Amino acid sequence: MTQNERKQAVAHAALDHILPHLENDMILGIGTGSTANGFIDALAEIKNRFDGAVASSESSAERLRTHGIPVYDLNTVSELRFYIDGTDETNEHLHLIKGGGAALTREKIVAVVAKEFICIADENKWVDVLGAFPLAVEVIPMARSYVGRELVKLGSDPIYREGVVTDNGNIILDAWNMNIINPIEVEQAINQITGVVANGLFAIRPADLLLLGTSSGVKSLTIQ
Ligand code: 5RP
Repeated sequence: MTQNERKQAVAHAALDHILPHLENDMILGIGTGSTANGFIDALAEIKNRFDGAVASSESSAERLRTHGIPVYDLNTVSELRFYIDGTDETNEHLHLIKGGGAALTREKIVAVVAKEFICIADENKWVDVLGAFPLAVEVIPMARSYVGRELVKLGSDPIYREGVVTDNGNIILDAWNMNIINPIEVEQAINQITGVVANGLFAIRPADLLLLGTSSGVKSLTIQ
């Protein structure tokens, strides 16, 4: 099985998971990235079984609309039963590093509203300790240098993601070599830096279910 086939497999596994719960007036939370794109494409096959979606990025919103799936502003939605999204890294506690696609802030907002966060990922995203993948930090542009210095104090090597402006008009600093032995503490510490909008650690609100695509099939994992 290729990596692409494993991504397709987890997208369909997520569809199978939500299918029995779908209702005509249900709105789904949808993430960002190539794995989430696979899920959006699979979802299009059953678009008459639910009402619409809230997207965690403009690119996902565009893809949903292209498939004829209505996209809602989160402010008009009182409940999201499911949020389905990919990840850059996951550990056994379903703590995640996300933000490779710079959509981390909206992803966090949709994840925190959703009742169940289903993470879909290829097995190469599984790690013992988070942090080999650089931790994305969304920053208000004028605070870039200050936040960079504070991230250095936390032990990381931040690098400005050149040419990237988030959907919220901000910039991304990628914190390399961050020591993430305690993901909740690191997430909280970065959140405390003035000028930080959000960081890509999803530990305070981890995934509830991980569907991991492996060469021997899709593994279903819940928080350990
Ligand atoms: C975007 C994300 C993505 O979920 C993450 O980068 C995984 O992407 P892919 O499914 O393409 O590997 O967090 O901000």
